[in-house]
Amino acid sequence: EQHSLKAIRGNFLDIVKTVEQPEEIESHLRFIEDGLMLLRSGKVEWFGTWQEGKHLIPEGIRVRDYSGKMIVPGFVDTHIHYPQSEMVGAYGEQLLEWLNKHTFPAERRYNDIEYAREMSAFFIKQLLRNGTTTALVFGTVHPESVDALFEAAHNINMRMIAGKVMMDRNAPDYLLDTAETSYSQSKALIERWHHNGRLLYAITPRFAPTSTPEQLAMAQRLREEYPDTYLHTHLCENKDEIEWVKALYPERKGYLDVYHHYGLTGKNSVFAHCVHLEEPEWDCLRDTGSSIAFCPTSNLYLGSGLFNLKKAWHKQIKVGMGTDIGAGTTFNMLQTLNEAYKVMQLQGWRMSAYEAFYLATLGGAKALGLDDIIGNFNIGKEADFVVLEPTATPLQQLRYDNSVTLMDKLFVMMTLGDDRSIYRTYVDGQLVYERT
Ligand code: GUN
Ligand code: ZN
Repeated sequence: EQHSLKAIRGNFLDIVKTVEQPEEIESHLRFIEDGLMLLRSGKVEWFGTWQEGKHLIPEGIRVRDYSGKMIVPGFVDTHIHYPQSEMVGAYGEQLLEWLNKHTFPAERRYNDIEYAREMSAFFIKQLLRNGTTTALVFGTVHPESVDALFEAAHNINMRMIAGKVMMDRNAPDYLLDTAETSYSQSKALIERWHHNGRLLYAITPRFAPTSTPEQLAMAQRLREEYPDTYLHTHLCENKDEIEWVKALYPERKGYLDVYHHYGLTGKNSVFAHCVHLEEPEWDCLRDTGSSIAFCPTSNLYLGSGLFNLKKAWHKQIKVGMGTDIGAGTTFNMLQTLNEAYKVMQLQGWRMSAYEAFYLATLGGAKALGLDDIIGNFNIGKEADFVVLEPTATPLQQLRYDNSVTLMDKLFVMMTLGDDRSIYRTYVDGQLVYERT
């Protein structure tokens, strides 16, 4: 029906296909200066230049004119904790102390559905005002936390993946489930939410130290019963954490082998951090088609270490960007890319603007197995996109005016950009955020 048709005009930038190596990205880059996108029922119906397409716009359809702005696919955040929004920037600890002192107490409140609803609304607003239109999200151990988040995402038909945390040891009693309740509660949530609209479910054991072998066996059972769900957890973030896993699971070859033993590796398994992988672990991730969430602000903030993105490319392992709120310090993907660049500088690797842009869009979508439905403007893709303003501050304006190439302009946007760069956000073809 014509009434659901929308016409968007502006400069568009996307990457038309996924790649194996970063050098390939440039040849798949599509920049359309003065372009037109036609949307119908939340999908891209037509995409090309304004000159070619303007006669396709039916009479009476208003054109949303974003000339001078840069329209890009919505950002994909492959690792974030919604119940940690209220404790971002907690002072002074590394991972294990940080969890005990700051994180677990913050997550306690999410047994209250009203509180979880309030924070879900806050969280989704933060995503949208930062241009993030898809995220893979940790809830808390409480099923209510996931119901609240999915309800809020469902209201705007946002493509969101989330799950209830499974944790049955090594945390305060108020945050523990059991192998059995984690199974039955996760199962009920999968039945309620997985493929409900655009929502998808992730089986979410927190990390190996907080699950008994019995609980990981239950995660495996869920995965076998629902093979197209996700598996979302943490891996090799911090050296003390790794030693602890080795002590808890001495019969396993290493940290990743704990997950692998329980069938938790594979396509649509997403492992956050992977800062200190051993050689066989890199190979296991590749051989199983597992994905990594690279969380630079978190890894710097907690002093965890430097993720080796270059090696991940070399091993041909799928990588997406994660903000990892609340160990990460920003919801903003541009700032996250800025920090990723610095993490790679410290390792002697020049991350290009195209590589960064790929990881935040189509590469992130690929890491989540969603590259056939989101991540660029190909016809039929879901219409989630961001209108960026490259010159939102005087410094950005100055620097933008002094950049010549598209590469340079894009790089400046990710280096100097933040939430002020996000001018409009669209989800499912609908305007869901306007900068004021
Ligand atoms: N490992 C286990 N739980 C967490 C968490 O909440 N945040 C981070 N960064 N690492 C973890
Ligand atoms: Zn995390």
